[in-house]
Amino acid sequence: MALMEWTDRLSVGVEKFDGHHKRMIALVNELHDAMSEGRGQQALSRILGELIDYTDYHFSAEEAAFDEHGYPDAGTHKEAHAALLEKARALKEQHDAGATMMSLEVIEFLKDWVTDHIKGEDKKYSAFFADR
Ligand SMILES: [Fe+2]
Ligand SMILES: [Fe+2]
Repeated sequence: MALMEWTDRLSVGVEKFDGHHKRMIALVNELHDAMSEGRGQQALSRILGELIDYTDYHFSAEEAAFDEHGYPDAGTHKEAHAALLEKARALKEQHDAGATMMSLEVIEFLKDWVTDHIKGEDKKYSAFFADR
């Protein structure tokens, strides 16, 4: 069973970004499934790496749209992106360095940061982009 599901409540009103968010959620689910199935460290590390790379790509796309349209809250939002990526990268480094299995707490953390960011910072740009 999937850990997280994308619903309309997560929509930010920009089709392209909703698509990106769906992919991010799919990757967190994939990580969760891999963990539940007891798949090896390498598999977990690969999926986590993919999630980080994709998130990086998505954040850059949002930021490019902010710059293009002069979104007034771009500064705070970019800072939130940087902090999240830093956290996720630190997590992967720890995971890669130690032989311990990635805990379900880590998955919970990833789930929260993906949904919290979408429901928080990302939702704030919905109205701004609605007429653009
Ligand atoms: Fe986003
Ligand atoms: Fe964002």
